[in-house]
Amino acid sequence: MNRFELVGRKALVTGGARGLGAGIAEALARAGAAVMIADVLEPEGKATADAVARLGVISRFVRLDVTDEADWEAAIAATIGELGGLDVLVNNAGILIASLVVDVDPADVRRMNDVNIVGTLLGIKHGLRAMRPSGAAGGGGSIVNLSSAAATIAFPAIAAYSATKSAVDRITRVAAQESGKLGYGVRVNCVYPGFVPTGMGLGLADDMARFGLAADPETALADVIGVTPLGRLGEIADVADAVVFLASDASRFCTGAGVPVDGGMGM
Ligand SMILES: NC(=O)c1ccc[n+]([C@@H]2O[C@H](COP(=O)([O-])OP(=O)(O)OC[C@H]3O[C@@H](n4cnc5c(N)ncnc54)[C@H](O)[C@@H]3O)[C@@H](O)[C@H]2O)c1
Repeated sequence: MNRFELVGRKALVTGGARGLGAGIAEALARAGAAVMIADVLEPEGKATADAVARLGVISRFVRLDVTDEADWEAAIAATIGELGGLDVLVNNAGILIASLVVDVDPADVRRMNDVNIVGTLLGIKHGLRAMRPSGAAGGGGSIVNLSSAAATIAFPAIAAYSATKSAVDRITRVAAQESGKLGYGVRVNCVYPGFVPTGMGLGLADDMARFGLAADPETALADVIGVTPLGRLGEIADVADAVVFLASDASRFCTGAGVPVDGGMGM
């Protein structure tokens, strides 16, 4: 038996319409999992679910705003109803609003806190409730949260965002402790991606130039590569493969762990 395989598993990926979430959904599907794409972006999310289904697994879309508790209840119920269970939850949805500290807008900080912290916490809450032995799915499983290298190093222009990703890191540990001690059968881990040129990553490079932290966006990206021992930016598949590992039985004795996927940038 290949312990990295996910054949027969049912996965829910938040923020799965595009970027890292879409890549994670694809990698889970290639490992054999059925996948529910959950996002606020409906046409993009449906298109991604269709693309994932063409890999030969069941894949569906559900509209989910991760800050909304009723949405979470409906998304978990839809996953169990349409895929036949829930074994893997990837809390990937997140937002980044860059700012210099001297210009920080409290509304932006509150919005990031809501999506990145409250959204992740609600996901873990409803994921654990569904996957624990008394839950509607009931078979245990794996939760993987998207933290960031920004939780481990200081990176200019993203003070508030970095704080939310540090929160995701700490929440992961506490959830893993509670789940383990209470016998839920659910492992909870996180990844710390480095800089990946998705919409979010490229937007940050633009902001770095706008704030005078780099001559232009290309220089901002080159500066990141310069502090990355493996000498390149991250690729979506780099992060997705680490998530597949944490979702699978290959990581069966890992819980409360954070895996850097950053080419060494965060060490
Ligand atoms: N790109 C990077 O360099 C990088 C690095 C480290 C960590 N991350 C983290 O990885 C995750 C994915 O980032 P990305 O680069 O793919 O970003 P992205 O902006 O390309 O995609 C984010 C996705 O999340 C969705 N989303 C946003 N708010 C939502 C909400 N309230 N409810 C449901 N879905 C919502 C968006 O619609 C989008 O599909 C984020 O948590 C991000 O913080 C990204």
